[in-house]
Amino acid sequence: MSVTPDGCPVDLYRALPPAGEPEVIHGAIPAGAEVLELGCGAGRVTHPLLALGHPVVAVDESAEMLAHVTGAETVCARIDELRLDRRFPVVVLGSHLVNGPDRQALLAAARRHLAPGGQLLVEWHPPAWFDQVADGSGGQLGEVRIAVEGVRRNGDRLSATVVYRLGERTWKQSFTCETFPLEPALERAGLRFERWVAADRDWFSARPSNAG
Ligand SMILES: C[S@@+](CC[C@H](N)C(=O)[O-])C[C@H]1O[C@@H](n2cnc3c(N)ncnc32)[C@H](O)[C@@H]1O
Repeated sequence: MSVTPDGCPVDLYRALPPAGEPEVIHGAIPAGAEVLELGCGAGRVTHPLLALGHPVVAVDESAEMLAHVTGAETVCARIDELRLDRRFPVVVLGSHLVNGPDRQALLAAARRHLAPGGQLLVEWHPPAWFDQVADGSGGQLGEVRIAVEGVRRNGDRLSATVVYRLGERTWKQSFTCETFPLEPALERAGLRFERWVAADRDWFSARPSNAG
């Protein structure tokens, strides 16, 4: 079974349908705007964005994931090391990657690929999520049943395992994430908070804090 360096099973992300992310992004950005998508995986969000009329440059460090992305320009690279000679009107940093340990490097990479006045869309775990998540929480995404187990808290950090079941198949993905004060993190990366773009405050928009 192929698994990315950060523990994502490739077959799982091929099987998971989108959960409204493409519509959130599309609804927050100008029609037809080109998108740089950081950590695109197998294209779960990329493909609907393309269908919604957005050209996408899709970045992931996993060639196995990128092999399943069609219709987008793909770049196999670590986000923190990404230095494309281009800037974009929209950069997307989804999948709660910003709650990981590389937060500042990811935000800096997003910032350096934003065109002047461009828009960064980020999916994060807001502070309230850290209070709510518990063993047994989860749900269903398409045909995939999802359950959280082994929740452990240590200060601002939370570790858990997510169990995904589809028919006879089971995948487990363990993760550690961190809650953090948003505005200082954005400020350090040369960004400023603009607005929430989803009712549950799971997605927000940020802009460069200066013209450069
Ligand atoms: C949880 S998966 C989500 C994939 C996709 N965004 C989705 O929603 O289906 C996270 C993806 O980000 C990629 N990733 C995580 N950290 C990365 C990094 N520092 N540089 C490049 N890719 C990264 C992983 O390889 C994986 O494909």
